[in-house]
Amino acid sequence: MAKPTIPMIRNQWYVAAYGYEVGRDLLARTVCGEPLALYRTEDGDPVVLADRCVHRRFPLSESRLDGDKVVCGYHGFTYDKTGTCVYVPGQQRIPRTARVSSYPVVEQDSFIWVWIGDPAQADPTAIPRAPWLADDEWTSVYGMEPVAARYSLLVDNLLDLSHETYLHGGYIGTPEVAETPIDTEVDETNRIVRVSRHMADAACPPFYADSTGIQGRITRWQDIEYFAPCLYVLHSRIAPQGSVPRPDGSDPEGFHLQIVYAIVPETENSVLDFWAVARDFAREDQEVSDYLAKFNRTVVLQDVTALNLLEKAIAQEPEGVQELSINIDTGGLAARRMLRQMAEGTPAAV
Ligand code: FES
Ligand SMILES: [Fe+2]
Repeated sequence: MAKPTIPMIRNQWYVAAYGYEVGRDLLARTVCGEPLALYRTEDGDPVVLADRCVHRRFPLSESRLDGDKVVCGYHGFTYDKTGTCVYVPGQQRIPRTARVSSYPVVEQDSFIWVWIGDPAQADPTAIPRAPWLADDEWTSVYGMEPVAARYSLLVDNLLDLSHETYLHGGYIGTPEVAETPIDTEVDETNRIVRVSRHMADAACPPFYADSTGIQGRITRWQDIEYFAPCLYVLHSRIAPQGSVPRPDGSDPEGFHLQIVYAIVPETENSVLDFWAVARDFAREDQEVSDYLAKFNRTVVLQDVTALNLLEKAIAQEPEGVQELSINIDTGGLAARRMLRQMAEGTPAAV
């Protein structure tokens, strides 16, 4: 396998921001190479416009709001929330071509989702769900780190958690993660890759020992669902060693975390790494929240450092350098295959 390069897939929903980031100040983000300006109307609805004034390219994100309209900070071209120019300085006639793209946008599960491609294909019901992030029964912490690496490297990283043992040793990794084989399942119809690793008897890494208070060995389950291309959920279950859910599905001894990532191609060689950790225990405990936020960010930054190095290595390597894949790569390879099909426009299997 040559370079792990997969084209950015435009006709898909992507997370552009957390809802709390978007307000009455303009926010700049780039998704699939498209510079975007985000804001909320006075009624609170999110708006996403192309971040480039049609006049002389001034970024609208560096401009100002007048009610629900954006007034370009350079010469005052003014756009409504549909991107239509409603005012130009010094003349009555507004050129017909004076408009910027406005993108389909949906706020759901604490995320602002945007559709970059053909608006006619934007189906809000196709947005994958991460309900825990906006559910009172769960407590969440959040962050986003930009990575100077192509998005496929982040997909590889998240689909193969055996790296926890080495890259995140002493944080979330223990020997059992790398040693326990995975089960991989590919749902071609819904374009989901599932990777499971159930460890019956494992050491408890600090991330879980400190947040749950469990002492001693644990039963640790990692069940990944990757909704290609953007949303990744790691359903993490931690329990005292030997404990499994009851036959009726209840799980009083289990601690559950939904570790959510949104993988957002920014440019060909950069990706936005949105991460969130939702938990169903110690929900009111601010210390646990602060701990998980700080700790998870540290772990994410370990990944960022590694992926930045990989991107540099790829940029410098001669053509034709081959990778070597083994069993742990099954999920990552399935994800790459799925993304390639999507990039080529192959319809999902029925
Ligand atoms: S660049 Fe926006 S009005 Fe001139
Ligand atoms: Fe990692």
